[in-house]
Formats: sequence, C-alpha cells, structure tokens
Amino acid sequence: MSKNSEIIFTQNVAETLTTLLAAKRHSKIMVLVDENTRKHCLPHVIDAIANATVIEIKSGEEAKNLDTCSQIWKEMTRQQLDRKALLINLGGGVIGDMGGFCAATYKRGIDFIQVPTTLLSQVDASVGGKLGIDFMGLKNHIGVFEKPLAVLINTGFLATLSKAELRSGYAEIIKHCLIADADKWKEIIATPYDRLDWQDLAEHSVSIKSKVTEEDPLENGLRKILNFGHTIGHAVESYFLPLGSKKLLHGEAIAVGMVAEAYLAYQRKFISEADLNQITTYLLHIYGAVAISDFDIDNILPYALQDKKNESNTILCTLLAEVGQANYNQEISLEDIRTALEYYTVQVGEVKK
Ligand SMILES: NC(=O)c1ccc[n+]([C@@H]2O[C@H](COP(=O)([O-])OP(=O)(O)OC[C@H]3O[C@@H](n4cnc5c(N)ncnc54)[C@H](O)[C@@H]3O)[C@@H](O)[C@H]2O)c1
Ligand SMILES: [Zn+2]
Repeated sequence: MSKNSEIIFTQNVAETLTTLLAAKRHSKIMVLVDENTRKHCLPHVIDAIANATVIEIKSGEEAKNLDTCSQIWKEMTRQQLDRKALLINLGGGVIGDMGGFCAATYKRGIDFIQVPTTLLSQVDASVGGKLGIDFMGLKNHIGVFEKPLAVLINTGFLATLSKAELRSGYAEIIKHCLIADADKWKEIIATPYDRLDWQDLAEHSVSIKSKVTEEDPLENGLRKILNFGHTIGHAVESYFLPLGSKKLLHGEAIAVGMVAEAYLAYQRKFISEADLNQITTYLLHIYGAVAISDFDIDNILPYALQDKKNESNTILCTLLAEVGQANYNQEISLEDIRTALEYYTVQVGEVKK
C-alpha cells in the first residue's frame, strides 16, 4: 500500500475527475458499473471520461465472484489495457471491492479510482484499502490490500439509492459514533432520521475510518474496533441469508449485532444501563424489530465460530469500553452470544407490547 490515496469530497465528480486526470497521463480509461449505476450515476461523470470504455456487470453481492473478475480481466485484455491504464469503479461496495481487486492484480496492478455511490461504500467500503471477492460461499475470502489513486465522494449520488439501502449504510455511521465519538452519537440520536445531514455524517465517518485504518492498515490491532456489532451481526446476517424473505440487509443485521454486543459491554460493566437502553431504543426505532426465535438463536450460534477475526477457536469481539470508545480482542463465549440475543428478543417483545 505504497500509494498515498486522497479522499476528496466533491459536489461535481466530473469536474474533479477532469482535474485529477489532467495531472496524470493514463494510456486508457475503463469505467466499471452495474446496471443501476450505469443508469443513475454514469451520466454525472461521463463528460469527464468521454473516451472511456464502459464495462457493465450484474449488480448485487451474488456477482462478487471469480467469474465476474474473469469477465472484467478479459475485457481489460481485449481493450489492450497496459500498465498505465486506469480503472474507475463507479458503484457501491461490490463494484469498489471487486473492481479494485481486478485493478490491483491486472498486470500486477494498475491505477484505480473509487467513486462510491451508496452510503455504505461512501462511509465505509471505499476507505481503508481492503479489496476482494467472495469465494466458495465465504465473504471477502480472496483479496488484497491496495490503495486507490483517489476516492471521490459525492453524497448527491444518494438521491437515487433506495430507502432500505440508505438506512442500511447508516448503521456504519452509527457504529463509527459509538466506537469513537460520544458527542456525535448524542447529536444523531437527537436528530430526526429524515433531517440527518448525509454530507456531514459521511465526512465524519470517513475521518474516523481513515484515522483508524492509517494507524493500523493491515488490521493487526486497532482496526478491529471497526468490527463492533459485526461478530454477532455477521452471524445473524449469514443465518438469515438463505431464508429468502427473512433476508436482512447488512446494516439491518449489524443493528441487531450492535444491540447484542452493547448488552455484553453492559454485562461486563463497561457501559451503564442507561447507555444500553439508549442504544437499544435508538436502534430498534431506526431498524425496527427483527423477529428472532429460540430456534433461530440455536442456529445463529455456529456462524459466530466462523468469524474471520477469531483466533484458535476463541471468539474475539469488539466491545464498547464506554460510549465513544471500544476495545478489541475481547473474548466472548457462545453462551454470551446466546444471552445477548435473548436480551435482544426480550427488547423486541417490549417494543411490540
Ligand atoms: N472494503 C471494505 O472495507 C468494505 C467494508 C464494508 C463493506 N464492504 C463490501 O461492500 C459490499 C456492500 O456494498 P453496498 O452496500 O454498497 O452494496 P452494493 O454495491 O451491492 O450496492 C447496493 C445496490 O445499490 C445499487 N446502487 C449503487 N449506487 C446506487 C445509486 N447511487 N442509486 C441507485 N442504486 C445504486 C447497486 O446497483 C446495488 O443494487 C459488500 O460486498 C461488502 O463486503 C467492503
Ligand atoms: Zn459492516
């Protein structure tokens, strides 16, 4: 990760791209889109890259695999991209992770620029240099760390994003507040959801994620605090994934995870009962109540053992040390996860009463 990538907030991606590209001499430019970003986002940048080749892939996590990479590498080869070429990844986290991975490995690496177009990718996925694809049913199983030439963020792209995707991305903003900024947490919970300022919140999240990932780019320690809500959240997400209609968006599952993991921090007396109640009430208010039965809990637990962050069979989790601070590598047991999910279901019951 030798390159120094810049994260630029801009109201006009085309203009910023034009300036950025004028300073470089790329032999060819390719832009990666899916059918949604081709329709909604490409028109806003095309003026800056009129000569670029557009390559479209299918949208969705299902496409984040080796077959699609092969499609991208083939197109790069057909277009005779050399080592001075540039790939622009215009889309959400799937496009950014996979396009970045293809660029970082094509001819041992060509330049790429991330233009994230979902809230999740603007506040999380486009920052920190993690790139990759899913493999054999395992998320982000194959990948590399590499920094883009630049990340261009325009929150204007969010206008066409579905309400559900927007709310899902918001979970990462909440996470950043809870692990690193108690004042911002107080501010967001006091603001009605439809009056949240995405520009301000994106800048806030990016500053937190960049600071953490610059300090620990390869996730040897500190970077693990970004995993708050994800140990239990991922297990919940993975369990519901094959269940079709009950499938949760990433942020919806992470919201459950944050409530459950906040409970574990309360149990260990890191946060007060008042803090726990505030976190629970807010997350249930924003994300609604996910029905999780005892049967579900039994079947969610095995997924927690598969977490990439575990070491030699102990489950390692990030727990809040207080609101606005977190500790990583906290050992938890399956029994802890069961209790935490039971706490969640009791709270859901309270809401429904
Ligand atoms: N690299 C990292 O550090 C990191 C961090 C978090 C998540 N991720 C990855 O990010 C991925 C999820 O990203 P995501 O939530 O952005 O999902 P996504 O890329 O699948 O995008 C969600 C949907 O929104 C559509 N879309 C994108 N921009 C749009 C716009 N402006 N208007 C209308 N529709 C638009 C897409 O076509 C897609 O259908 C996962 O694969 C996850 O592993 C990576
Ligand atoms: Zn996440």
